[in-house]
Amino acid sequence: MEIVQTVCEMRRQADALRYQGRKLVLVPTMGGLHQGHLALVRAAGRHGDHVTVSIFVNPAQFAPGEDFAEYPRGLEHDCALLAETGVVDTVFAPPEAQLYPRGQEHQVVWIQCEAYTRHLCGPRRPRFFPGVLTVVAKLFACCRPHVAIFGLKDAQQYFMIRRLSEDLLLGVKIVGHATVRELDGLALSSRNVYLSVDERAQSVALYQSLEAAREAIEAGATDAAEVEQVMKRVIGQAPLARLDYAEVVSTRDLQRISTIRAGEEVLAAVAAFFDKARLIDNVVVRAPTQI
Ligand code: PAJ
Repeated sequence: MEIVQTVCEMRRQADALRYQGRKLVLVPTMGGLHQGHLALVRAAGRHGDHVTVSIFVNPAQFAPGEDFAEYPRGLEHDCALLAETGVVDTVFAPPEAQLYPRGQEHQVVWIQCEAYTRHLCGPRRPRFFPGVLTVVAKLFACCRPHVAIFGLKDAQQYFMIRRLSEDLLLGVKIVGHATVRELDGLALSSRNVYLSVDERAQSVALYQSLEAAREAIEAGATDAAEVEQVMKRVIGQAPLARLDYAEVVSTRDLQRISTIRAGEEVLAAVAAFFDKARLIDNVVVRAPTQI
């Protein structure tokens, strides 16, 4: 497993591998690796024959006051976990100046996906998606993957990156991977390390709210506002949780819907703060074909 730290070397390596006919797979991460990331990495091994994992805590997707400074960093430990999987060929871990040579405050081109940013995390974190889409485009430009794997845990990000690749003709096949959870249902996240024992116990409310939404939809609920109320009620039972949002959107265009139609696939998504930790989770549910 080789660690590459410069854009120049990453491009040189990727171009050489492409020339040899290898199929390149990329798993972009911000480090602080857990079993969720590692599941994506193992899946990557099945989608190609050269796996690159990028580790870069992207300053542009954090707003002032968010947890950029505290975000878990530990390249050595992350590399040890990646080496143990036995499928990683390259770790791309560039310093900030490599991906933002002028400094991110002097960069003038940013990628936007306004239509998919209207709901869920979009309005709450206005810098987030332009920061994500732009850094993912940079990572694609450096690593030149044929395939890139993203977690459905961050469903809004996943749907947007699919459109990024399609709309800008980047030619990268975007593969989604199911959310990896703790035994009680909490989605694994690098931010779970921020939770106190009590917060950790109550954080399962996010998953429970989504399961309640799934049950309601599968039982034939058609009023999206009613399903959102179901989710809010469950989160409300966790006194340490401060709800950020509980919304139902269409997976087709990520817009809010008022009526869930028969056979329609929807995304039920929640975000909640536990003190300074902001956790998100979602489920994709298909409504019964006959309601
Ligand atoms: P990060 O939060 O490190 O996540 C890296 C990848 O792992 C993302 O595709 C995310 O959806 C996936 N992931 C995280 N937790 C998961 C879980 N419990 N189950 C399945 N997949 C999970 O997402 C980012 O980094 C950044 O925004 C990035 C795309 C790297 C751009 O900076």
